[in-house]
Amino acid sequence: MPAPGAGAPSPAHRGHGGGAAAPSPARVTAVSLAAGAGERAGFRSVATLLIVHHTPSPHCQALFEAVVSGATAPDIAGVRVERRAALAATASDVLAADAFVLGTPANLGYMSGALKHFFDQVYYPCLDATRGRPFGYYVHGGNDVTGAMRAIETVTTGLGWRSAAEPVTVIGEPGRSDLEACWELGATLAAGVMD
Ligand SMILES: Cc1cc2nc3c(=O)[nH]c(=O)nc-3n(C[C@H](O)[C@H](O)[C@H](O)COP(=O)(O)O)c2cc1C
Repeated sequence: MPAPGAGAPSPAHRGHGGGAAAPSPARVTAVSLAAGAGERAGFRSVATLLIVHHTPSPHCQALFEAVVSGATAPDIAGVRVERRAALAATASDVLAADAFVLGTPANLGYMSGALKHFFDQVYYPCLDATRGRPFGYYVHGGNDVTGAMRAIETVTTGLGWRSAAEPVTVIGEPGRSDLEACWELGATLAAGVMD
């Protein structure tokens, strides 16, 4: 199982905080035996990259598709790529993921209301439990994405997420280099959680 920190168990498999009761010894034994049986049978756990995006236009869609294409490139094995519209993504999606890509248009000098809503939903349920997990993001705008970038940096800093790629920012119609940068963004985050 890949992990952002060498030698550490994947954060996705840590406890989810919130004072959950410790499992009983019997439960631990049962889970250990099951895990061993699974490995003997050839099953392997799969890392998850979660792409949370607000995609209200063809230009945003092009960036989103490039990120997905990079994240699902043939060279990347053993990574499940989950895509969620920002208005549909849940705290459970976030807790179950090993890494994140966020995508949004700039709106009124901020991230989109949809991505803001996503963070409103997941912030406290995921605080602590997802600390240290890697993320990257892209922003599309008409003229100025500075405020949207600042907003994303602020909330991800609060969550303790770890920047694992340069942000991709695009103004207007995406060019070839913009799409390549989004492809790289998806590939980088997915490769980072590979076995
Ligand atoms: C309500 C609204 C507010 C916007 N605010 C910004 C903004 O602050 N900065 C910016 O660069 N673009 C802004 N835009 C432009 C959007 O970012 C842009 O429409 C979106 O990325 C989709 O791009 P497209 O229309 O070229 O496909 C705004 C658009 C709308 C509808």
